[in-house]
Amino acid sequence: MKVAPSVLSADFGNLQRDVQAICEAGCDFVHVDVMDGHFVPNLTIGPVVVSAIAKCATAPLDIHLMVQNNTFFVELFAPLKPEYISFHIEEEKHPHRLIQKIRSLGIKPAIVLNPHTPPESVEYLLADLDMVLLMSVNPGFGGQSFIESVLPKAKRLSEMRNRLNPNCLIEVDGGVSDKNIQQLKEAGVDVVVAGSYVFNHASKEEAIKSLQI
Ligand code: DX5
Ligand code: ZN
Repeated sequence: MKVAPSVLSADFGNLQRDVQAICEAGCDFVHVDVMDGHFVPNLTIGPVVVSAIAKCATAPLDIHLMVQNNTFFVELFAPLKPEYISFHIEEEKHPHRLIQKIRSLGIKPAIVLNPHTPPESVEYLLADLDMVLLMSVNPGFGGQSFIESVLPKAKRLSEMRNRLNPNCLIEVDGGVSDKNIQQLKEAGVDVVVAGSYVFNHASKEEAIKSLQI
C-alpha cells in the first residue's frame, strides 16, 4: 500500500518543516488538496503555495482538485510537474477530453468520485486513466469519519480495473487510519491519503509505516 499524506493537516506556519518531515518519514506521494470555495465549501491553496511545497518535497506531488473550471486549474498547476492531477467527475462535462489534456502535459491523469458516484461512471474512461480516487468522506475538510460504503465500491472498481486496465491504481481519501487499512487493502486499494492520522500521530514515520502494509 502506498501512502500520500495530505498537507491539508500540516501546520501552515511551518509548511516547509512539515513537508520535509513526511518525505523523510518515507511517504510515497505528497497529497495536495486544492479547494476553490465553489465546488466545496472550503478554500485552500493556489500555485504560489503549491510551488513552495513542490520546492521542498522529495516525494512526487498528487494534486487533488476540488474546483469548478477544472481546465483552468490544470493549466495553472501543470508547470509544477506533479505526478498526478485528479479532478472530480461530478464537475466535468468533458472528462475524456481533460484526461487527454493532462496526459499531453506530461502528467498522470486521475478522476475522483464523490461518495454517491458509482464506479461504473468511469467504466469507459478506465483505459485512459492512471488512477481513480474514491472519496471516503465528503470533500472539503480533513478529520471527518470514514464512510464504510467505499469498501464494496472499491471492490467493484478493482474487479473492473483488473478487467479493463490493470495498470490503473485505486486511491482512497478521507478518514483513513490503522483501523481501516487492512479492509482497504483487501478491497483492492493501492494508495491511501491520510491527513489527520499522520499529522496527529506522535511519530509521522510510525503512522506512515502502519499504513504501508
Ligand atoms: C478532503 C480531502 C482529504 C483530507 C483527508 O476533502 O480531500 O485529502 O485532507 O483528511 P483526513 O485523512 O483527515 O480525513
Ligand atoms: Zn484529497
